[in-house]
Amino acid sequence: MLIGSIINGKELTSKNKMAIHNPYTGEKIDDIALASKQEMDDAVKDAYQCFHETMKIMPAHERADILRETANLLEERTEEFAETVVKEAGKPISASRGEVQRGVQVLRFASEKAKDITGEVIPMDAAVGGNGRMGFAKRDPLGVVAAITPFNFPLNLSLHKIAPAIAAGNTVIFKPAEKTPISAYKLTKLFHEAGLPASALNLVMGTGEEVGDPLVKHDQIHKVSFTGSLPVGRAIKESAGFKKVTLELGSNSPNIIFADANIEEAVKSLVTGAFAFSGQVCISAQRIYVQKEVYDQFLEQYVSLTESLKVGDPADEGTDVGPMINEGEAERAKQWIDDAVEKGAKIAAGGERKGTLLMPTIMTDVDENMKVIAEEVFAPIVSIIPFETEEEAVKFSNNSIYGLQAGVFTIDIHRAFRVAEKLEMGGVWINEISTYRQDNIPYGGVKQSGFGREGVKYAIEDMTELKFIGLKLEQ
Ligand code: SIN
Repeated sequence: MLIGSIINGKELTSKNKMAIHNPYTGEKIDDIALASKQEMDDAVKDAYQCFHETMKIMPAHERADILRETANLLEERTEEFAETVVKEAGKPISASRGEVQRGVQVLRFASEKAKDITGEVIPMDAAVGGNGRMGFAKRDPLGVVAAITPFNFPLNLSLHKIAPAIAAGNTVIFKPAEKTPISAYKLTKLFHEAGLPASALNLVMGTGEEVGDPLVKHDQIHKVSFTGSLPVGRAIKESAGFKKVTLELGSNSPNIIFADANIEEAVKSLVTGAFAFSGQVCISAQRIYVQKEVYDQFLEQYVSLTESLKVGDPADEGTDVGPMINEGEAERAKQWIDDAVEKGAKIAAGGERKGTLLMPTIMTDVDENMKVIAEEVFAPIVSIIPFETEEEAVKFSNNSIYGLQAGVFTIDIHRAFRVAEKLEMGGVWINEISTYRQDNIPYGGVKQSGFGREGVKYAIEDMTELKFIGLKLEQ
């Protein structure tokens, strides 16, 4: 089948096609028709007009109804959407179903929040000379939001941008990852079926060069919300000019296990935390720091549980770890393992690659200069590293250009909060893995993990601007 961009509800065709392959079987799933720069420009103009003529004045209760109806439709079609994610992203079926359920919840949060976008009354008489005036600040939508989304959560990370944008009364140009356009295509149609004016969500599928760069530079785009890699995020920030920008970038998330933690529980959750969706999650547990007294015990249990994971076909119900997104990425990750081994690291489990499947890999004897530690691995590779003191654990964890989420495992509540305070992160979990995200928490990074926050309420703040209106009481 050939699927194309959707502008003003009409699907585009093009001679310029790109094939989409199933990462596990290698089979071609669909072709996508790539949009041209001119078509991207048409999409932005159309969304701009729709913002001014329709969305900006649409009552909040109508926006809420559309979002609620989209949630209901998505929930009804859970299986269809989950199967699409399995096919195009290679995510195991149980995790794909989980992603759809999270997406439904994000839409419901957005529907509720659409009716609760408030401002504040300003105490005008607090300023000398302000007597006899009244004033308030309200939140207005920005205009056209460019939502540029990654392959790893093709539904839910797209919804984290589109749903708050619509809740606030913006329109959206949706540019999904080139590797996972099919769920984006279906999602766009779902919004339209739920009653969203067609031009309020235009889907533009194309390359970064032809569509992505000019989109970010476009004068009629008011905000760019991007999730993806650090180099692309940096380029977007440089090109965006006066636009607001939210960047959700990479991480090499640390998790700290103190000797008093429940080791069995920590092992169980961190095996999932490192290998879920083959580690292709921004907050995947990449560095696990374990206090010396329990290091051997932790490592032994961790290796044993990792070796029991079922690796293979993501369509099989029992599969824990599926393929990486493509062979190039799997080979890149394998080279990072080999590079670390050449520099003195040891492999405690895994290390082999078969096509797009990279075995869940545990590394020890690593140091901070190896890529598997210093950079974002975005692959099923985790390093387990001993530490002695609390200060050391904090220092190792903060020794990174990134700061997205971390996990701290201890039963000492004072230490837990002390460490959480000292970690340079956008978020810290106590007795929970760095990989855990709930869709209503503020989510985003510090340092080079980006800026701005998602989590519907926070994204709405970033997708609106305060407008002040004041009145002088006496003429
Ligand atoms: C991410 O990879 O940044 C998103 C993780 C999640 O939403 O669970």
